[in-house]
Amino acid sequence: MKYQYIHDFKKLGFGMFVHFGLYSVAAKGEWYKDMHRVSHEKYEKLVAKFKVKKTWAKELVSTAKKAGCKYITLTTRHHDGFSLFDTCGLNDYDALHSPTGRDLVREFVDECNKQGIVPFFYHTLLDWRHPYYHTNFPVYIDYLIDSVEILCKNYGKIGGLWFDGMWDKPDADWQEDRLYATIRKYQPEAMIINNTGLSALGEVGHPEIDSVTFERGKPAPVAQGEKPIAGEMCQVFNDHWGYAENDINYKPVKAIIENLVDCRYCNCNFLLNVGPMGNGSLRPIDAAMLGEIGKWVKANKNFIYNVVSTEIEAENACVLKDEKYYYAVVKDVAMSANVNVALGGTVASVKILTDKKMKNARWLDTGKAVKVKKNSFEAEPFFYGTSRSVRVLRFELK
Ligand code: GLC
Repeated sequence: MKYQYIHDFKKLGFGMFVHFGLYSVAAKGEWYKDMHRVSHEKYEKLVAKFKVKKTWAKELVSTAKKAGCKYITLTTRHHDGFSLFDTCGLNDYDALHSPTGRDLVREFVDECNKQGIVPFFYHTLLDWRHPYYHTNFPVYIDYLIDSVEILCKNYGKIGGLWFDGMWDKPDADWQEDRLYATIRKYQPEAMIINNTGLSALGEVGHPEIDSVTFERGKPAPVAQGEKPIAGEMCQVFNDHWGYAENDINYKPVKAIIENLVDCRYCNCNFLLNVGPMGNGSLRPIDAAMLGEIGKWVKANKNFIYNVVSTEIEAENACVLKDEKYYYAVVKDVAMSANVNVALGGTVASVKILTDKKMKNARWLDTGKAVKVKKNSFEAEPFFYGTSRSVRVLRFELK
């Protein structure tokens, strides 16, 4: 089927974003060089400290898998211009020419293939370091496209390319036709994604684009034409995409899971970021959060990947469906009065707005059957010792 790869991408549902590079060593976020006005000379001293442990990819991919992610998008090169892959002589600003001395993109792809995760490549468009980025743009574009060609040729089949930074020079000639044709030549079924940034959420910038982006935003349904364009919202645990050791501004696990549900409600994918530390290990809190998210995903499995939105609405819940079932997601089940009056007490009821009858209703996480009255039910489920946040009721409509 034409555009099958886009349908396949939509079914992946949940992915992990990984911001990893030289900036991970500085531990002040991926914009450290720019925001702290660090000179090239000083910044390049980080290369000598870039020592990535051998097991980094294995740990990362296993953690993603346990969290329920089906794909990972890795920063092969970020705005600082440093590449995790072998640039094959385009320059020597890559992991091969650091104490690590290895092609980290190769390790990443091998590990993804081994564990059944689809690898995606983030690649920056803007470049703080390239000598011609500001002075001879066409020469810079040649370098950019040569870099992308290496990524498309040397690592086998990949899920897609995720570009970022065109917003830095909105009026420049980025030669997008040529860039995307290079991808299609080697990877005809790769998703082409180009982040439109914070000010243009969900916009399609070019006919070759296969998915729109909602950076840290609210996902929205994507208008469908002849091409079944996907949507993806990327989100960060705290405030920085790259590792920032002092950033404790973490979102609650519950809010992250709600983001995932909201994305699926709009038929969008959710791309959740981690910023590994300089040696490639995950920050313990990130790994722990992913562990909790993974437990939720596992308890609610069959819900995330194949669901699509439905025209059916509900009071106090959002409704999604797959081939067989409907799902009502209740974000906050009230405590029942006998458990804790102080916490509010009344039990929320959910009404599915349809004339059909609900049948065979069960909570996905506990498997417990729920009594329904025609098309509504009492969200009585808070049972001391279980969670009252983001609960999914599975049912049929007859
Ligand atoms: C922004 C930032 C960048 C980050 C990206 C992730 O565009 O420039 O640092 O990689 O968002 O969506």
